[in-house]
Amino acid sequence: MNPIRCDRTPAWEALNAMLNASGRVFDMRCAFTLDTHRFEAFSQSAPHVFADLSKNLIDCATEQLLFDLADQCRVAQHRDAMFAGEKINRTEQRAVLHWLLRTPSPVIANEVKQSMHPETMDCRAGRHCEERSFPLRHCEERSDAAIAVTLEPELAQVHATLDAMLAFAEMVRADEGITDIVNIGIGGSDLGPQMAVLALDEFVLPGKRFHFISNVDGHELSALLKRIQPQNTLFLIASKTFTTVETMTNVRSAKAWFEALGGTDIGCHFVALTTNVVAANAFGINTTFGFWDWVGGRYSVWSAIGLPLAIAIGGQRFRDFLAGAHDMDEHFRSAPLERNLPVRLALLDVWYRNFHGFTSRSIAPYHNALRRLPAYLQQLEMESNGKRVDMAGEALPYGTAPVLWGEPGTNGQHAYFQMLHQGTDRVPVEFVVVKKPKHNLPGHHRLLLANALAQAQALMQGRADASGHKDFPGNRPSTFLLLDELTPTSLGALIALQEHRVFVSGAIWGINSFDQWGVELGKVLAKDLEIRLANGDSTGLDGSTAGLLTCLRCP
Ligand code: F6P
Repeated sequence: MNPIRCDRTPAWEALNAMLNASGRVFDMRCAFTLDTHRFEAFSQSAPHVFADLSKNLIDCATEQLLFDLADQCRVAQHRDAMFAGEKINRTEQRAVLHWLLRTPSPVIANEVKQSMHPETMDCRAGRHCEERSFPLRHCEERSDAAIAVTLEPELAQVHATLDAMLAFAEMVRADEGITDIVNIGIGGSDLGPQMAVLALDEFVLPGKRFHFISNVDGHELSALLKRIQPQNTLFLIASKTFTTVETMTNVRSAKAWFEALGGTDIGCHFVALTTNVVAANAFGINTTFGFWDWVGGRYSVWSAIGLPLAIAIGGQRFRDFLAGAHDMDEHFRSAPLERNLPVRLALLDVWYRNFHGFTSRSIAPYHNALRRLPAYLQQLEMESNGKRVDMAGEALPYGTAPVLWGEPGTNGQHAYFQMLHQGTDRVPVEFVVVKKPKHNLPGHHRLLLANALAQAQALMQGRADASGHKDFPGNRPSTFLLLDELTPTSLGALIALQEHRVFVSGAIWGINSFDQWGVELGKVLAKDLEIRLANGDSTGLDGSTAGLLTCLRCP
């Protein structure tokens, strides 16, 4: 299927016309006054997530044009190609099947159908939740689409590995001698499991501590090695390729430390999570859990890379995490574009990036356990969609991935929210809010929720003040993503929602969201500079690099 470039579609032209006619002066406050049902029209339930999009710079006519854009860019066909196992990662000639990692095995699926959980009993295939069906229920699109027959062997391998990995996780959980689990990995081999272990801290087995070592900066590993003992430590070496220099350097140092302190049983204390089992074996690690080249690093938390999470929360809860994501997959796969949450979010992203010219999005998780969510989403969005050429390699005349950034609320309010309210740039804010807390400290959670609501309200409402300094312009967009509770299931759904949203904006921009050539050049140059730092040779270097090299070598 040939992608159709978004800027060559009639909808793109119509959206530009719309922006020039009324979009630039669109005022959400007037829109709410004129339409008392705006909240209902621009909010929706998706599995385990409720989304309020009504505080965005959009009306029904604009959203319709955005749906037309999705249609004309063949988003649905592109999505179906991914679910059919086509090699949509064209620059690497790979299929994109991370969603298969959370597809139930046919055997389990049948058993579930026969003993349906009461909560899902009243759900009908294809029936939509009532628009205001809150508290959240996952009653949309419950009938699972069949997977392509050609993917059945892959699905069988997925479940064989998952079963083995979860059995191993239970073994480690039961082993009281192992108190410290150290994940050594970087990028997707760090951010996903780290974010999820923190997010699900309430479910983590007492007596086990989890550590994530990613940086080649030895301060990180050396600080940890002072606090752990070889006999109580399990190292998980997470690397899709098993070649990443940071990870290999850290694992070599960890192994040397282990042996220096008398550790002998590498086989019991070092496990590899990788697609490159041969390299792991050559390294002396014999316990390995594999995955496949069709899982991108930033999409790999569902694979063996999720082992730290499985050890932390246990096999059943890890399956719940997968199940939440699968519910979102089914929603993405089967909901019409107009009620498809990943699609609606992505279309807003395109509207802001390409028509309003906004260059960033701030993530505001109002839950301390989600404090690594912004970092996780940075890789997901910016490594996937930070591209400047289309599928054919032709330079793009429009912007792609925005910059993502953020801190948990309410901390961000006392740092950079000043700029969000009164700065010269408009930055859409994504609030991620959890209705029910997991602690019982009185007063805190209501205050937290009130702050999230207040910030979104203030961004939109603003407040006029003649002095200028105290004037809030308002009409600043935000989205509310609301989880009933932060559980393995809802976290899985939230992450899959973000993955699919990135997929849709990438499809509209006509780029390959699944490669990452942009990280290669720096890696090559670092190799060369490491040698030059040792021998002092600066021949052929630019003036700045040569000067800095001299400074760094000065005693
Ligand atoms: O350098 C970028 C990258 O390739 C990411 O895409 C990936 O998640 C990370 O490095 C780690 O790679 P690996 O899992 O192969 O060590």
